[in-house]
Amino acid sequence: MATATEARPTLNRSFQTKLLINGQWRDSLSGKTFETINPATEEVIAQVAEGDAADIDLAVKAARKAFDTGPWRTMDARDRGRLLNKLADLMESQIDELAALESLDNGKPLSEARNGDLPLVVDCLRYYAGWADKIHGQTIPIRGNFFSYTRKEPVGVAGQIIPWNFPMLMVAWKWGPALAAGCTIVMKPAEQTPLSCLRMGELAMEAGFPEGVINIVPGFGPGAGSALVDHPGVDKVAFTGSTEVGKLIMRNASNTLKRVTLELGGKSPNIVFADADLEKAVDGAMLGLYLNQGQCCCAGSRLFVQESVYDEMVERLADKSSARRLGDPFDPETEQGPQVDREQFDKILGYIEKGKEQGARCVAGGERFGEKGYFIKPTVFADVKDDMAIATDEIFGPVMQVLKFREIDEVVERANTTDYGLAAAVWTRDIGKAHAIANRVRAGTVWVNCYDVFDAAAPFGGFKASGIGRELGEKALDNYIEQKTVTVSLD
Ligand code: NAI
Ligand code: MG
Repeated sequence: MATATEARPTLNRSFQTKLLINGQWRDSLSGKTFETINPATEEVIAQVAEGDAADIDLAVKAARKAFDTGPWRTMDARDRGRLLNKLADLMESQIDELAALESLDNGKPLSEARNGDLPLVVDCLRYYAGWADKIHGQTIPIRGNFFSYTRKEPVGVAGQIIPWNFPMLMVAWKWGPALAAGCTIVMKPAEQTPLSCLRMGELAMEAGFPEGVINIVPGFGPGAGSALVDHPGVDKVAFTGSTEVGKLIMRNASNTLKRVTLELGGKSPNIVFADADLEKAVDGAMLGLYLNQGQCCCAGSRLFVQESVYDEMVERLADKSSARRLGDPFDPETEQGPQVDREQFDKILGYIEKGKEQGARCVAGGERFGEKGYFIKPTVFADVKDDMAIATDEIFGPVMQVLKFREIDEVVERANTTDYGLAAAVWTRDIGKAHAIANRVRAGTVWVNCYDVFDAAAPFGGFKASGIGRELGEKALDNYIEQKTVTVSLD
């Protein structure tokens, strides 16, 4: 792993800050730019071109052309796969620099970006590279003297809107299946973290993706984002972000009947039975909540602990949380960096105040860390009741809610009493109990005696208000495919 002093000099290169449209890097038509900030220091890193509806229109036209008449459609599927592999190889060869860029713009510890995000990015691109030439239809024995078969065709131009919590990983999750399926792309990265996506755009151009296949328009939600959702030239919208904006996107996309997939928020239950390996459960609860400064859609933010081990667990969590090392994301010793921006920082501190007001017992943290940067101390609330705001709302920060339960039926019911349904976990040595929970909890992913285990091959997505559709795995290809039935008379 690169140390702080090794990693920093690699960032002396100038950042790509323009829009990528039709293979060209250009300023926005309005000439407007916006600042992207280092959340650890609150200093401006760069001014980035700010796209809006007019730029989206150009990008969609480029993607349309690349899809309708460009080389992408007619290219051998295997060659599409080779391009994805080439991009993965390029990224792997510069993995330290990419991790440093991610850390700089997002605030996550360099060690996490380098050893967590980046390997998953490379792996995801390679996984979908492998799918490119394995997407095919079936022959179907219909009645009569006919030959009937299906074709799996790309859905067309995909508009992709992503958040800031895992900037490059979200690009890989979106580009991988879309490109493997043969779609072309207009992507809008999050306004908080545009730099690594733009860098991936540079590497995609270097890999040799034809012009117009991948377009990137940084900007804000109401400007560039909503224009992408409204544009009649876009066939499909894929969104990851807040449930609030997800609902808006689904509503707006209905005007043009776009295909929509959504990966939204969560309030995931993490259930610890008294018969669990408590040491592992404590570590799993810490990882499940604090990973990425708590900015995970699947964060285990409702920790249900069985009565007889509740006090012990709370004590251990409070001790370990207080011992977490916060600070400079580039320091290899750092375990927790700042929240991504002032808005998130204020939102989280607001929830901490609400938790205190509503009578939860704050046993660790409960305030900001330091004077500069958006750091928040790892916070643990005990004696949390199901209807407190901290137990119902997505906080998206390092704030853990520990709730007490007695028995299995009760905890299943309480775990399911939420509009969300993204993930869940259970800790127990009793295999029957583990599977019972896995069957009965309404969530897209259930981890047993582990947390946050992700793999490009394993589908991920939400039940209920946590989303529509699945990302990753073979399943995600369906998001970018139209199925066609062809029937031929044999008379
Ligand atoms: P957001 O949902 O507003 O932003 C996500 C993306 O959507 C960004 O690229 C943004 O520019 C874009 N966007 C915003 N408004 C849009 C619109 N009207 N049309 C099209 N695109 C639009 O999320 P934000 O404001 O960054 O965070 C708010 C909360 O959302 C967080 O505190 C957290 O609770 C949740 N969130 C969940 C994420 C997840 O992974 N599921 C990721 C980020 C945030
Ligand atoms: Mg927002």
